[in-house]
Amino acid sequence: MTILVTGGLGYIGSHTVVELLQNGFQVIIVDDMSNSEKFILDNIEKVAGKRPVFFPFDLRRKELLAQVFDAYEIDGCINFAAFKAVGESQEKPLDYYENNLFSLINILQEFKNRNISNFIFSSSCTVYGQADQQPIDEDTPLKTPESSYGKTKQMGEEILKDFATAYKKKVSLLRYFNPIGSHPSALLGELPIGIPNNLVPYVTQTASGIREQLSIWGNDYDTPDGTAVRDYIYVVDLAKAHVKALQKLMAETSETVIDIYNLGTGKGSSVLEVVESFERANDVKVPYKICDRRDGDITVAYANADKAERELGWKAETSLDEALRTTWEWQKYLESRK
Ligand SMILES: NC(=O)c1ccc[n+]([C@@H]2O[C@H](COP(=O)([O-])OP(=O)(O)OC[C@H]3O[C@@H](n4cnc5c(N)ncnc54)[C@H](O)[C@@H]3O)[C@@H](O)[C@H]2O)c1
Repeated sequence: MTILVTGGLGYIGSHTVVELLQNGFQVIIVDDMSNSEKFILDNIEKVAGKRPVFFPFDLRRKELLAQVFDAYEIDGCINFAAFKAVGESQEKPLDYYENNLFSLINILQEFKNRNISNFIFSSSCTVYGQADQQPIDEDTPLKTPESSYGKTKQMGEEILKDFATAYKKKVSLLRYFNPIGSHPSALLGELPIGIPNNLVPYVTQTASGIREQLSIWGNDYDTPDGTAVRDYIYVVDLAKAHVKALQKLMAETSETVIDIYNLGTGKGSSVLEVVESFERANDVKVPYKICDRRDGDITVAYANADKAERELGWKAETSLDEALRTTWEWQKYLESRK
C-alpha cells in the first residue's frame, strides 16, 4: 500500500512516516520545507531503515501534484501540510486560508478524479474552543475558533465531510490535543523556528539558555494551581494512532465513512505541572515568571479519548516525564548539529 504523506518532513509527519514504514507501507512525502529541513529525510531513513520517496514542492502547485499521482498508484493520504502558528494566522489570515485550504482541495480533486479513497486529516482540539464540560468527547459541540488557523481546521473538517458524502469516500478527522516530545532516537522532533508559541518548546529553550525566562500566562485561572490545563500527548503515541486510523479506514467495507477521533491522553496537566515534570525528568531548572493572561487562551481542555481506544484499539501510553525527557534529548541533538 502506498500512502501520500503531505508535510511528512514536519514534526508529527516525520514520526508518522517512520511508523508507516515500520508497518510495511510505502511512503511518498510531499513537503515544501516551509517549516522543515532536508536532514529530517536522512534521519527518517536512519530510524526506519528505509528512505521514503520525497518531492519538495508546494501543494498549491496543482500540476506538480498531478504528476505525483500519475507516477504512483496511491492508496491513501495523510495530510499534515499546513501552516500552524496561531498568532501569525491572525496577522496573515489570507496566507493561512490559502495554504491550508487550497492544498487540501488540490489533493481532494486528485482523489475524486482518480477514484482514490482513504484520507486522514490533521485536525485539532481547537475546534471545541473552551468547551462547557471536561473531558471533551467527540460529541461536544464545536465552537468557532478565535484564530484564523483554528478556522482552517474547522473548515477543513467541513470540506472533508462534504467530500466523503458527495463522492462516497472514506475520511478520518483526527483531533489532536497538545503533541509533545521527540523520537526516542533523538533524531526527529519539533524544529524551533522563531519564538515558540507552544509551552514545551518554550520550556526546552529556556532550560537550554536560548530564552531567559519562561512566561507563564496567568495563574488566576479556575484550575487547581491557577495555571491553564491542557492534554499533552506524546508524538510517537500520536503517530501510531494514524496508522491505526488508516488501517481501520482501509478495512471498512462501506463506501462512505466519516470517522472522527480525539487523540489525547485523557489527563489534563497544568503549566506548572509541565515545568515540574520537565525539571524532574531532566534534572535541570526552568526559570519562569508569572505574567498576565494572554488573549484568546482557554482555561482547560483535555480529551475523552475512549472512542479511539474502543474503535482503533489505540491508547496513549507514554508518561509526561518520559515525553519531556525525549524533548530534552532532541534539544541536545539540535545543539550538537550547530
Ligand atoms: N503541533 C501541534 O501542536 C498541532 C496540534 C493540532 C493539529 N496540528 C496539525 O497537524 C499538522 C502537522 O503539524 P506539525 O506540528 O507537524 O507541523 P509542521 O509545521 O512541523 O509540519 C507541517 C509540514 O508541512 C509542510 N507544508 C506546509 N505547507 C505546505 C504546502 N503548501 N505544501 C507542501 N508542504 C507544506 C511544512 O514544510 C512542514 O514540514 C498540521 O496540519 C497542524 O495544523 C498540529
